[in-house]
Amino acid sequence: VSNLPPVTLPPNSAAPEPSPSDAAALAEAVRLLRAGELVAFPTETVYGLGADARSDAGLRRVFAVKGRPSDHPLILHFADAESALSAAVDAPPVARTLADALWPGPLTLVLRRAAWVPDRVTGGQDTVGVRVPSHPVARALVTALGGPIAAPSANRFGAVSPTTAAHVRADLGHDVALVLDGGPSEIGLESTIIDLTRDPPVVLREGGLPRERLAALLALAPTGTNTGATRAPGMLAAHYAPRARVVLVTKDALPSERERLEEQGARVVVLDAPTDDAGLAALAHGLYARLRAADAASADVVLAVLPDERGLGAAIADRLRRAASAR
Ligand code: TXA
Ligand code: MG
Repeated sequence: VSNLPPVTLPPNSAAPEPSPSDAAALAEAVRLLRAGELVAFPTETVYGLGADARSDAGLRRVFAVKGRPSDHPLILHFADAESALSAAVDAPPVARTLADALWPGPLTLVLRRAAWVPDRVTGGQDTVGVRVPSHPVARALVTALGGPIAAPSANRFGAVSPTTAAHVRADLGHDVALVLDGGPSEIGLESTIIDLTRDPPVVLREGGLPRERLAALLALAPTGTNTGATRAPGMLAAHYAPRARVVLVTKDALPSERERLEEQGARVVVLDAPTDDAGLAALAHGLYARLRAADAASADVVLAVLPDERGLGAAIADRLRRAASAR
């Protein structure tokens, strides 16, 4: 089983009705998950490394394969808001508001956990992160399993998240039993995480759902208030870093800085900042693939201009800053 190539499923089939080969791939995925094996699957944000949340063997394997400390919690993925909110107790009314307006989509809600949620998922905390992904393959998979899938991004701890099936294979090799290939992740950045156990709610991680969309629906605490004991490894500086050194420059300084580095013999890859929404979406979509490509091309330096922090620009700037401060 572990030597299977990625199985190809259509990335954007609107109909959840799978063709015979899709059904076979899904059935195999479900069989593996139930047996405590890992199945990587596409979501609209990044690829996830999935385990059946009710399989302790599967959950343990996720931490082992990722090389992730056991006290870092996993996000639970559900087919619909109803079942997602059943993982919580005492959810504030705003949870329902956000779920109705923004799911399925790139948003993770942190809520007080229900008793049935395994400690291994929550890292022993009294909260749980839940989301309903919109990618048809992710939805088909959680539906077919009939229960939640615990899934971190399908990369080794601290590495750049995968946005294609090939990235997953390159990172995890045969430590994952099956990779469902749903094409490149459309958004390309991880979900936005909001902690609804605090009042006002706190954004723990900027991500694929722009903060403005949340702010329109609820009163948000100002940025940079993630000071609690909540563990979010996505907040660690060393995350999102390629091997190449990431250097931040202003647009004005870009040409001269590039020239200076190249005169020193450095191999330089440039990531310029777009200014319009379409450009930001395109940069988000391709960001992790471009960081990986820089490494594949043995680049020494990725010279990056931070976009303005509006829309997806906030999450892009967040990831680039972390990558730049990684060493
Ligand atoms: O877009 C995504 O969210 C992707 C796809 C696969 O869904 N998943 C993802 O998972 O990025 P991961 O494990 O790489 O990052 C999840 C982040 C971690 O920083 C984790 O600590 C945080 O979510 N998290 C999960 N549960 C939490 C909780 N109860 N409280 C605070 N942070 C939590
Ligand atoms: Mg991750």
